[in-house]
Amino acid sequence: MTSVTLRNVCKSYGDVKISKNIDLDINSGEFVVFVGPSGCGKSTLLRCIAGLEDITSGDLYMGEKRMNDVEPSKRGVGMVFQSYALYPHLNLFDNMSFGLKLAKADKAEIKKRVDHAADILQLGHLLERQPKALSGGQRQRVAIGRTLVSQPNVFLLDEPLSNLDAALRVQMRIEIAKLHKKLGCTMIYVTHDQVEAMTMAEKIVVLDGGYVSQVGAPLELYHYPKNRFVAGFIGSPKMNFISVFIEDVEKNQVKVQFKNGSTLWIPVDGTNVTRGERMSLGVRPEHLVSEENGDAVIKGNVLVVEKLGYETQIYLTIEDADADMIYRVPDTALVEAGDTFSVGIPAHRCHLFHNDGKACQRLYKEAGAQ
Ligand SMILES: Nc1ncnc2c1ncn2[C@@H]1O[C@H](COP(=O)(O)OP(=O)(O)O)[C@@H](O)[C@H]1O
Ligand SMILES: [Mg+2]
Repeated sequence: MTSVTLRNVCKSYGDVKISKNIDLDINSGEFVVFVGPSGCGKSTLLRCIAGLEDITSGDLYMGEKRMNDVEPSKRGVGMVFQSYALYPHLNLFDNMSFGLKLAKADKAEIKKRVDHAADILQLGHLLERQPKALSGGQRQRVAIGRTLVSQPNVFLLDEPLSNLDAALRVQMRIEIAKLHKKLGCTMIYVTHDQVEAMTMAEKIVVLDGGYVSQVGAPLELYHYPKNRFVAGFIGSPKMNFISVFIEDVEKNQVKVQFKNGSTLWIPVDGTNVTRGERMSLGVRPEHLVSEENGDAVIKGNVLVVEKLGYETQIYLTIEDADADMIYRVPDTALVEAGDTFSVGIPAHRCHLFHNDGKACQRLYKEAGAQ
């Protein structure tokens, strides 16, 4: 177990900057998820930590030790890759012990470690089998086991579940969370899937175009995104964004006006908000309410209704929204495409964004965050 610290880490390929000024503090034993859209530099950063890529500038520490120039094999890290090719002609025991044998570990020690890893991953009864006789989930567990036997201080996992089907991904996500509890080692997990990030992480690092956009606990990011990128990336379906006119500003609240003339005082920090400008109001589909319960009401035309049984997702076209607006109603709602429909907006659930994307600090205290 060890902490991992990045200080102003940059990584370029030639003239192209990929990771930009990354500052991160990962505590010993913490489960951290790097999340962001494809191409934002998640794998690059992970590979820099593993030592598979050189860091262009900045410092990487594990505990107190600077690691920039330490060989990958001496860093005490273990990495599980997205493509986890197993040796098809070797059985599970030999697949898992391959690295230890190469490192000329003692036979008894190899057996002990493989048995221990197999036990943790519930593969004990399969050690004689060849990979082709395993399910996708079992193969994925072998790939993790192969890394586990090297007893890393820091476990790095790069999109390990993306080759599995949806049901198996859910199951493996729980397995990996359990594994982390059992091992207590520092884990850095990379995914483009915000649901994986939300459900597994103690701390999420959202990356956007090579920069760290925000770091925080899952519910902190969900309720208090610092910018529009994080607001839109975390949560599914995405947050609704509506262009509003700033009618009045006080220290602890801002009055916004929708195109239909209705107004709303939003409990956010009014610093740097100017009367008369236009800003972007954000509200999550699950936070919208019925017309009677809203502090303001917006009318729209129903475009599509998705009836999921336990909830209904109503897609509306409204004036001023950046895209169709989505309203998630718990349970079954009797609405059809083509209807005119009104939704209520609860002031305390609203977010407000400047045109550069920065959020005004929300002042409403949400349960379980901050
Ligand atoms: N070896 C490389 N040489 C040049 N560019 C690379 C190399 N590896 C990755 N990149 C570029 O770096 C960017 C980030 O890639 P990557 O870290 O793999 O993103 P992610 O894992 O978030 O999808 C991409 O634009 C990719 O094309
Ligand atoms: Mg990647």
